[in-house]
Amino acid sequence: MFKDRLLIWSKTVTIVFTRMNKETNTKFVIQGLAGAKTLKGSIRINGAKNAALKAMAATVLFKEKVRLENIPHTADIDTMALILQKLGASVEWIGDNDTNGKVMRDHIMEIDASTINSTDIDPKLATGMRASVVLTGPLLVRFGKVSFPAPGGCVIGARPVDLFIEGYKNMGAKVELKDGLYNISAPKTGDGGNGLKSSEFFFHRISVGGTETLMMTAVIGNGKTILKNCAKEPEIVNVAEWLIASGAKIKGVGTETIEIYGVKSLTYKKPYIAIPDRIETGSFAILGALCTRDLIIENCEPKHVESLIHFLQDSGAPISADKNSIIIKNNVRPNCSFKSFNIETREFPGFPTDLQSPIVTYLTQVTGNSQVDENIFEGRFKYIEDLVKIGAKIKITNEREVKISGPTELVGTSQKSDDKISGKTLVPVELLAHDIRAGFAIVLAALVAKGEFVVRNAHLIDRGYEKLEEKLTAFGAKIKRV
Ligand code: EPZ
Repeated sequence: MFKDRLLIWSKTVTIVFTRMNKETNTKFVIQGLAGAKTLKGSIRINGAKNAALKAMAATVLFKEKVRLENIPHTADIDTMALILQKLGASVEWIGDNDTNGKVMRDHIMEIDASTINSTDIDPKLATGMRASVVLTGPLLVRFGKVSFPAPGGCVIGARPVDLFIEGYKNMGAKVELKDGLYNISAPKTGDGGNGLKSSEFFFHRISVGGTETLMMTAVIGNGKTILKNCAKEPEIVNVAEWLIASGAKIKGVGTETIEIYGVKSLTYKKPYIAIPDRIETGSFAILGALCTRDLIIENCEPKHVESLIHFLQDSGAPISADKNSIIIKNNVRPNCSFKSFNIETREFPGFPTDLQSPIVTYLTQVTGNSQVDENIFEGRFKYIEDLVKIGAKIKITNEREVKISGPTELVGTSQKSDDKISGKTLVPVELLAHDIRAGFAIVLAALVAKGEFVVRNAHLIDRGYEKLEEKLTAFGAKIKRV
């Protein structure tokens, strides 16, 4: 029995490590469609990685093995699994089996956090993935202490952790910053409890991770905690509902004010099931509007991307939604017949920052001038230079605002002089995936464009999209991973 477990564990670790060490210079080679809408098919949306990551963190609150379902196979999930394993937890993908050298994967994971024997979050892994900060709350509650690295600059902005620190202090924790590491400790109690006190906390800025983390921190303990000016993202509601089903007393999740009544412990009663990924849904809806003739996006929650659907419909894209699917049908009109619009990114239910870059690619193809304001993160426009490089007319007016004129033809494949042979050779244009979502936006631009492209840093796209190239190939796109 023990041997069997060891075998499964080592297989799990191998899978995770293989993925972590996978070439960080992975590239996508893409042949553009030159504006033709020849792609078609259907896609089933995966579970939301930004909910699944938080459910993985929440498993630390349980002293028994728990099951998580509909977990996407993305690189960020692998990183979180590795962080948990390094803390001493056991993490297993269930249903993985090796058939002729090919690992077939289900989307079910089991985590046993009862074996955690460290509270030091691996600094290297944590710096590579912001979501790891959410683990600090559950570790602090369970063990009375936690250490984690202070975040540095990030490709989508500074991403400070002041709200987490203020929140912990407000609950009575001591915070020390030494050698780039935060050491947080809860007051000690005689009975081995965590000594954190109930509190009232106002988020001076709305934060998804902050809301989730302080909510999880207050779940086990004494008294009532009130969190004000909370984020309302569906991923938060999804994780909270699972905690409630496990005995947590949380009221008001999905609204601005959340009240948590601390309980002694949580009891695992039913698996956590991740909601459909609204950002994957939105990404494919935009791709569908630009490049497909017919597309059905199945197994999604259209009400989670309502603002996007309205913008696309107003723009002229033939997109409609029913309860769990989005349909793009008979999309024969050229993209230049669609109209431009202005976008401001906002917290849910506003237009999501994670769809800001794909919608900019969209706006380069439709007719008219538009303006996109990024209100959540500063500096989330690094990908613009890549779009401009292939012909887009975009001006960064300040670090939170861009202006786009469309439509523009995007062109890859440039000519390089090569005297020895025929004088000129055609070479694909190299583009860069700057982060997960900007990476998708660049792949989308390459698909609508004319010519051939190499998209570097494809491993960053893998952080948030499971097997993107396989899904696109199934629609008829010419994309391969090298
Ligand atoms: C989550 O990040 C998502 N990540 C992001 O998705 C998403 O872009 C973001 O929410 C906004 O929707 C995960 O869920 C893992 P925030 P999070 O705290 O929680 C500032 C993707 O591509 N802030 O809501 O880190 C912060 O700098 C990713 O999937 C503070 O000032 O975002 C930002 O400007 C990228 N102090 C704003 O709040 C703090 O202590 C909102 O950030 C915390 C945040």
